[in-house]
Amino acid sequence: MTRPFDENYWTNRYHEKLTGWDIGFVSPPIKQYLDQISEKSKTILIPGAGNAYEAAYAYEIGFKNIHILDFSRIPIGKFLNRHPEFPSSQAHVEDFFSHQGNYDLILEQTFFCALHPSLRQSYVEKTHSLLKKGGKLAGVLFDYYFPSDGPPFGGDRASYLHYFEKSFEVVTMQPCYNSIPERTGMELFFVVKKIR
Ligand SMILES: C[S@@+](CC[C@H](N)C(=O)[O-])C[C@H]1O[C@@H](n2cnc3c(N)ncnc32)[C@H](O)[C@@H]1O
Repeated sequence: MTRPFDENYWTNRYHEKLTGWDIGFVSPPIKQYLDQISEKSKTILIPGAGNAYEAAYAYEIGFKNIHILDFSRIPIGKFLNRHPEFPSSQAHVEDFFSHQGNYDLILEQTFFCALHPSLRQSYVEKTHSLLKKGGKLAGVLFDYYFPSDGPPFGGDRASYLHYFEKSFEVVTMQPCYNSIPERTGMELFFVVKKIR
């Protein structure tokens, strides 16, 4: 199935260095979320991981079962060059919607907003299918509608609840208090749980 904003689109953005989404370090809300998880054996996926600073951080603090996924080979290749200790078997160059796995936790950082809004229901269904029962999807979503056409594609709490509440228990979805300065007031931190 052909989708808007395919692998070529994103790979070109990496080639042309048009990567304004890339903050260059672990996202503070995700860092803080990871810091409070004591069970380091959890199996974690970061889809649309890009340069995957969150994965590098998680691995460094002891989460060895962390997987990164991106359909562009460029950021994944660079990540593996920067982190030769990271198992290449846990770095997937693959379309998210084709990925198979069974995770305790999926982390969201500017992947949802990169997808055309027509894929939001599919994202919710796919994340749900990739999680174990009791597993969680956590991270940040834009609480902002961008003035120009995306990506990024924005939204607000009500528009996200419309999708997530159908499949998940919403543990929290609140204004994010520890966003990077450039995104202050523009993000929601959320955790949703697979209960069935
Ligand atoms: C806006 S970037 C975010 C990258 C990273 N999460 C960050 O915050 O720096 C979106 C990423 O998702 C990837 N991507 C988009 N659609 C995808 C899909 N269907 N399957 C896998 N990766 C995808 C792109 O290649 C790109 O690296």
